Amino acid sequence: MNPSTTFANAVATVQQRLEAAELSFGHGTDNAFDEAVWLICSAANLEPDGIDEATWGTILDHTQLANIESICSERVGARRPLAYINRRMWFAGHEFYVDERVLIPRSHLGEWIDDRFEPWINAGDVRRILDLCTGSGCIGVALAYAFPDAQIVASDVSRRALQVAQTNVKRHRLEQRIELIHSDLFDQFEGRQFDLIVSNPPYVGQSAMQELPAEYRHEPDIALNGGTNGLALIDQILLDARRFLADTGVLVLEAASAAPALKTEYPDVPFNWLASGGGDEVLLIISAAELKRLVGSKRS
Ligand SMILES: C[S@@+](CC[C@H](N)C(=O)[O-])C[C@H]1O[C@@H](n2cnc3c(N)ncnc32)[C@H](O)[C@@H]1O
Repeated sequence: MNPSTTFANAVATVQQRLEAAELSFGHGTDNAFDEAVWLICSAANLEPDGIDEATWGTILDHTQLANIESICSERVGARRPLAYINRRMWFAGHEFYVDERVLIPRSHLGEWIDDRFEPWINAGDVRRILDLCTGSGCIGVALAYAFPDAQIVASDVSRRALQVAQTNVKRHRLEQRIELIHSDLFDQFEGRQFDLIVSNPPYVGQSAMQELPAEYRHEPDIALNGGTNGLALIDQILLDARRFLADTGVLVLEAASAAPALKTEYPDVPFNWLASGGGDEVLLIISAAELKRLVGSKRS
């Protein structure tokens, strides 16, 4: 790029480079143009939502051009997701610190947290929430904003992930409302009950794991790998959650690509599915009473 490169020229050049490299998108953007804009904003120290008409004609300085080159080379050469390069990501309208210790936040749960899962739960009555498999803490933090009267417990089996979650809890000044716990699923919760359990567990099946684009291989295997059919953790959560829910409690579980396997495995269970903006059934909502009936209905 030459010294009189404008923001618009840089976007066009970077977009071409990203397209030519046949990258995979899916960590914050879904196309080369949006990713190019985000990349240049980060290199030029601009906020993506602060771009206006004048920005497009701005001439970029030498430092900004050098930053663009460096970030673009890393994105293309190492196929490293931009969120890891920038160490930031947005989820449910909030900003989070991220690095390779955690999955890059993108859960479908983000589409529903603002609506507080109504009408499936009586949100005003929710005081105790568990975010199981919290990773970066993004879901727990977003829930804390959406349910201002609730106390949140956020847990993960990865101590490295919990370090990142702690950074985010502090950044959002939610230390008084979010308790972080190291636990293999429900292991550390004996005797505790919640009004709402929310989880985005690992659910990528074995064959899909082998076909993941390079970008996803930068993420922790433990955050994605759901065993042979993707249901290793989901099964366990469905079988155990009842004990940790109040009688009127509800479990909201992301299953997305594992949804077909789940329907096959529990043919008689009338799960309530929530669809994503794209129309796919991605989240299931199930009450404590329904979970009680579910135990024993798994096809062997
Ligand atoms: C799909 S990631 C979700 C992270 C975060 N909730 C999000 O939506 O971005 C799944 C998380 O589950 C954690 N995990 C995997 N196995 C677990 C287990 N047995 N018990 C608790 N957490 C587990 C991983 O460490 C990872 O942080």
